[in-house]
Amino acid sequence: MNQDNKRTPEMQELLDKILGGKKQNYQDKRNKPNSPGNQLNKINQGLNATVKLVLMAKSHWRIIIISVFGIVGASLIALVTPTVVRSLTETLIESDETGIINSNLLILYSVVLIAAYILRAGCRWLGMFVSHIAAWTFAGELMAVIYEKFQKLSMRYFQNKQTGQLMSHMINDSSQAHVLIAHAIPDLISNVIVIIGVLILIFTINPVLAAVTMIPVPLIIWSGTFFSKKVAPLFKLDRVMLGELNAAVQDNLSGMKEIQAFGQENRELDKMSVLCDQYARINVRANYVAAIFHPGIEFLISMGTVIVVGIGGYLAMGGDMSVPDVVGFLMYLGIFYQPLAVLSRLFEDVQIAYAGASRIFEVLDAESEVQDMPDAKVLESCEGEIEFEDVSFKYIEEEPVLENINFKAKPGEMIAVVGPTGVGKTTIVSLIERFYDPQKGRIKIDGVDIKELTLESLRSQISMVLQDVFLFNGTIAENIAYSIKGATQEQIEEAARIACADEFINQMPGGYNTLIGERGVRLSGGQKQRLSIARAVLRNTPILILDEATSSVDMETELQIQQAIENLTGSRTVIVIAHRLSTIISADQILLLDKGTIKERGRYEELMAQNGIFARLNKRKTRD
Ligand SMILES: Nc1ncnc2c1ncn2[C@@H]1O[C@H](COP(=O)(O)OP(=O)(O)O)[C@@H](O)[C@H]1O
Ligand SMILES: [Mg+2]
Repeated sequence: MNQDNKRTPEMQELLDKILGGKKQNYQDKRNKPNSPGNQLNKINQGLNATVKLVLMAKSHWRIIIISVFGIVGASLIALVTPTVVRSLTETLIESDETGIINSNLLILYSVVLIAAYILRAGCRWLGMFVSHIAAWTFAGELMAVIYEKFQKLSMRYFQNKQTGQLMSHMINDSSQAHVLIAHAIPDLISNVIVIIGVLILIFTINPVLAAVTMIPVPLIIWSGTFFSKKVAPLFKLDRVMLGELNAAVQDNLSGMKEIQAFGQENRELDKMSVLCDQYARINVRANYVAAIFHPGIEFLISMGTVIVVGIGGYLAMGGDMSVPDVVGFLMYLGIFYQPLAVLSRLFEDVQIAYAGASRIFEVLDAESEVQDMPDAKVLESCEGEIEFEDVSFKYIEEEPVLENINFKAKPGEMIAVVGPTGVGKTTIVSLIERFYDPQKGRIKIDGVDIKELTLESLRSQISMVLQDVFLFNGTIAENIAYSIKGATQEQIEEAARIACADEFINQMPGGYNTLIGERGVRLSGGQKQRLSIARAVLRNTPILILDEATSSVDMETELQIQQAIENLTGSRTVIVIAHRLSTIISADQILLLDKGTIKERGRYEELMAQNGIFARLNKRKTRD
């Protein structure tokens, strides 16, 4: 296994040091009224994405203001140098005329300068560091908010999305939010303040000269706007391409076995190279535009200096302006143009942030199809009665999957759903979990429409073994006890016994503590299914759903599991989807699904006696 990406002990030590050994309580943090997640609900939908992001960062505004003080402080202190130089020039000219050297003054100037520089370093620290506290804390919170949203979105949302794209939204786009908080906002506020300050200073020294030096300003502002128009689509494209790249890599990594087995390496490499190359070229292009813009702005700024040297020099020669004033003016001007340049660069930061922000809100503003109603009830101590009333459902328009499904499962009954692949068996059970809502009809549990129940309470009453088993990185015991906090070892082993999983678990090197998943041993399909059944059994809910839960285990084990599950019925309602019809002989009701409708229903003997589709299928199956 590759060790490169793992935390070494040294890294862990460093991390512990950073975290300060404090146990973080994220729950409390999330629940604060000002937390980004809670702010989100109050934000007006019509706003620009960047503005919405700033509003979401409300809990950090105080810190941002402190960092603004730092940046403004540093810039105001920068005004000290020109003032000192201006006075120094005065002193030097005086001593030239009088022949007296005032060394005390020189010492004073030096001390003032040293103090100013020390103070400036402090302010810079404040400005740079404090703004990043706000920025990265916010970016981290934003990632969690986006993740939280993913968990709330219904399956329909994920249906046509690529995992890599969604990952990119959560990780890359929210990291970009830091640019907005750490740079754009403090820079904007502080530089505007500095510009106003310098304007007051230079206009008091010489209004005429000050007015003339303002000539390049409109040009600078115009180029900034022009630049941001050019560069905005590039940044947006850059974000999208990064998402695509992420998605493609994610797809290919999960399909690596297929790529290698079908010998498609060259084709995939070609596809990937194109994406990589495109991404690189977009960035080259963005830098090309930026590289024209920034020197251009610098050029315009230097025109200001030329004006002062020319006109200021002329005024000084004519005696209309003192030499120290010209020197001071030049230096103030340097301070004036710098924030202007920063502001124009700000256009770029805002564009980057906007590109990220608008993608973030594509996720955050997405409506989840399945939601709690405002007055949703909590389903408590459920009996386990399930009823489908005239339910019709389709994933996509024009392609109905289920039509007018009616059935009722009394508490403690076992219902079997059978039928050919793709007929809608999995869809039926997805509807009970409310992964989707049906377009027509109602599904009731204990006589209440499930739409009127809170999702959380509904799902807490159902345990499901999905057709595609998913196990998490962790030990076998952790996986079995996934939804049960504080399950005892005895309970875990009991559930494993029912699922016929105890035998193979005990043969594993670490028994119940064996690591599985990406970081541990791989399990066979049948072993995974049995763990998944144990997980559902341990949860001990009134409703148990098994979707082809034993399709990958051998016939004998399947019958054993079936027996164990039958022992559980009576205490809970079981819906079982089975492909081997012999395993459902004892079901209270068998529903035979064909072309989206229930074609036959009844007990095993009844269906066999009908001599219809079920009987035909069964004969063929037993002959196999
Ligand atoms: N997420 C989905 N989006 C679109 N169509 C789907 C989706 N899931 C299933 N289907 C389609 O719905 C039909 C029923 O699927 P499913 O309920 O999984 O069948 P079964 O479990 O009986 O094999 C199939 O035609 C399948 O292609
Ligand atoms: Mg299925």
